[in-house]
Amino acid sequence: MKNELIIKNLRLVVADTYEEMSQYTADQIHNDIKKKSNLLICTATGSTPTEAYDMLAKKYDDEPEVFSGVRFIKLDEWGGIPMDDPATCEVYLQEHLISPLQIEASRFVSWNSIPEDPNQEVKRISNMFADEGDIDLCILGMGVNGHLGFNEPAEFLRPSAHVAELTETTKKHTMAQKAEHGIQYGLTLGMNDIMRSKKILLLVNGSHKEKPFKEFLAGKITTKFPTTMLWMHPNVTVVCDKEVVPNIDKINSQK
Ligand code: GLP
Repeated sequence: MKNELIIKNLRLVVADTYEEMSQYTADQIHNDIKKKSNLLICTATGSTPTEAYDMLAKKYDDEPEVFSGVRFIKLDEWGGIPMDDPATCEVYLQEHLISPLQIEASRFVSWNSIPEDPNQEVKRISNMFADEGDIDLCILGMGVNGHLGFNEPAEFLRPSAHVAELTETTKKHTMAQKAEHGIQYGLTLGMNDIMRSKKILLLVNGSHKEKPFKEFLAGKITTKFPTTMLWMHPNVTVVCDKEVVPNIDKINSQK
């Protein structure tokens, strides 16, 4: 059973299980696409959204027409490794969304993981906002160190798409562990690109995220924990499972 509460301007949805939170997320995305056929969706990768993406892809078989105009943009990418390296966000998204939903190249804004000039690649992705407009729905995951995309904890954050220096924690991410080539840097949308999204879904699951999520819920906005910037966004829904917030009743009484 889901537990929903509003904390300041943020909606927190706590599902009993990972499966339930994934179903909720897939339904939300599906509803938004039905409301706006050319929805621009920014997609995080990693282990958190996988089930939600797979559940969304299953809806394609019954209603392929719903997905005929939807557009995607890849939030971030591991830099310096070939596009077909098993670690890339490209391989992940092709498998879980782009190919099952039959999204052609013109509806997928995708970082090249191995650009000749990373700075030119950043410009290319930044320029796409002029053509595509702002993100309608941004699906985010929270790194264990609080990162969003590859906006890593730091003294300052960057507003636009950029080449990111990866922290040691991020280099140990499960995706990075699958790499067959040496990851050299990260490519990511910036904080302003994310914050201009009309709606944000932040997905968090698993007991390994309990501690960082507690830090997020403390509500102190800091560049040392980029996810806390979301407290400044007017339309964020955080979807998580019980393992992340075992003390949901305590939060309820503190809000
Ligand atoms: C990775 C990805 C992000 C993802 C985050 C959380 O670095 N580049 O897009 O949101 O870290 O990953 P996970 O869901 O596996 O915890």
